[in-house]
Amino acid sequence: MTPDTPVDDARRPLVSGNWKMHHDHIEALHMVRDLGLRLKPDDVASVEVSIHPPFTDLRTVQTLVEGESIPVALGAQHCHDQDRGAFTGEVAPGMLARLGVRYVVVGHSERRQLFGMADEQVASTLRAVLRHGMVPILCVGETQEQRDAGGTEAVLAGQVRAALDGLPVDQIAGLVVAYEPIWAIGTGRAATAVDAEDAAVFVRALVAELAGEDAAASVRVQYGGSVNGENAAELVAEPDVDGLLVGGASLEAAGFLDVVRGVAGCYRS
Ligand code: 13P
Repeated sequence: MTPDTPVDDARRPLVSGNWKMHHDHIEALHMVRDLGLRLKPDDVASVEVSIHPPFTDLRTVQTLVEGESIPVALGAQHCHDQDRGAFTGEVAPGMLARLGVRYVVVGHSERRQLFGMADEQVASTLRAVLRHGMVPILCVGETQEQRDAGGTEAVLAGQVRAALDGLPVDQIAGLVVAYEPIWAIGTGRAATAVDAEDAAVFVRALVAELAGEDAAASVRVQYGGSVNGENAAELVAEPDVDGLLVGGASLEAAGFLDVVRGVAGCYRS
């Protein structure tokens, strides 16, 4: 999607705030209320915004967002791949759907690296999210070592194929894939816009291989890793970067709004 592409609703660039393990439900209330006061119709006319608080905040944020008509979609950071069962400590996808969650991050590198989430579980979780009518944000990305060894494309290909192979075309259409190079996460060292674009083009070509050009064109590819108000506009100005997955800069309303406005500025006609 290029910045001058006419924007229909499902194809607005998506700016997602992944809070990770930050903000209890009281802090969440303050942050989202602050965000709601600052967000102007113009900010969200051409950009879709989602926020992904910890599970314990979701009900509070849902009530606030619905009650005050704050124009953000509710998101989650993870879920289990089964609908119910003896899985102590886990949260089922249906529980998220009942809370009005629209987007679920699947296979974030922190889940993969710190909690042993393997490609098979990423694939089954992605299917579980779809089964419950929500939209997965599939995270892919290479480590510094893999990049240094020239392995970026092989890693992306492996992760995208493992997650999407065998999925019906109509389910692949409309997905969100986030390219998050691990070396850029929380380091203050974002990928260059050119590197983000190269990865986005590569991911889209993989999706086209699996599901055809139409489905690939409908997939939004986000970039994530040290995004802030300063670099947001440059990153989304790239034709294949259709949004941003934001960690640290999404925790405070003012900083997150800078990112949203950076993106909106690119897409405003
Ligand atoms: P930072 O924006 O803090 O680098 O985090 C990126 C990320 O992992 C979002 O999912």
